[in-house]
Amino acid sequence: MVTQDSTEKFRGMKQRGEKITALTAYDYPTARLLDESGIDIILVGDSLGMVVLGYQDTTRVTLEEMLHHTRAVARSVKQALLVADMPIHTYETPAQAVETAKRFVDVGAQAVKLEGGVSHVEKIEAITQAGIPFMAHIGMLPQHVREEGGYKVKGRTHSEAEALLSDARAVEKAGAFSVVLEIVVADIAKQITHAVDIPTIGIGSGEHCDGQILVTHDLIGLFPWFTPKFVSPQARVADEIRNAARAFIERTRGSGTAPSGG
Ligand code: KIV
Repeated sequence: MVTQDSTEKFRGMKQRGEKITALTAYDYPTARLLDESGIDIILVGDSLGMVVLGYQDTTRVTLEEMLHHTRAVARSVKQALLVADMPIHTYETPAQAVETAKRFVDVGAQAVKLEGGVSHVEKIEAITQAGIPFMAHIGMLPQHVREEGGYKVKGRTHSEAEALLSDARAVEKAGAFSVVLEIVVADIAKQITHAVDIPTIGIGSGEHCDGQILVTHDLIGLFPWFTPKFVSPQARVADEIRNAARAFIERTRGSGTAPSGG
């Protein structure tokens, strides 16, 4: 279990204006590479539904799938804070939310995240009162993409902006140590960042958040079939894999002998 110090560290970073860095990982080698690179937070996101399991969205991800990947990531993480996403339908009541959060802690997560603000306060309080560090997630909520009809920017209207501010204040009061803002209008993300003492971690929400999070597959170009508009990939790993596979195929077919691997 993570200590109070670890989550306090992020509040301190916000106060000092030091940006917090967070990336997703779903397997041992990726998590180890990110951890060794000095990332602050590793999230086993339910985005694994799309970028690892090939589902259309996160609404089919199960608890068992999340626990399986969290276990693998936990084996590698030494310095980052390991946060796990609670998948859809695993936090329908405060009691179920605590039970699910404990399952993640048992497999090595140091904190958990679920999607929702004001409407989820009782569940968040139950988790934090059970002593489990909690990261909130407001703005665009991917687990609701079907009802929403797509990944839509949040905070465009006055009432949406007010609702987001209320969500941020509510999750802070409920004990969250940080809050993810997903695809929120940059100016509203800035207002939220000033309105709460806990750090805001933005994804597609502009540069004024206290930190940034991305899906690693988007950052490194490992899921080339779709890249969100707000991501500038820093690598083309999919091309490297295709090139290595083609080179192997050509060499194997050309030589007529078993490949050496060298
Ligand atoms: O599932 C996920 O990867 C996430 C991040 C995009 C914030 O929730």
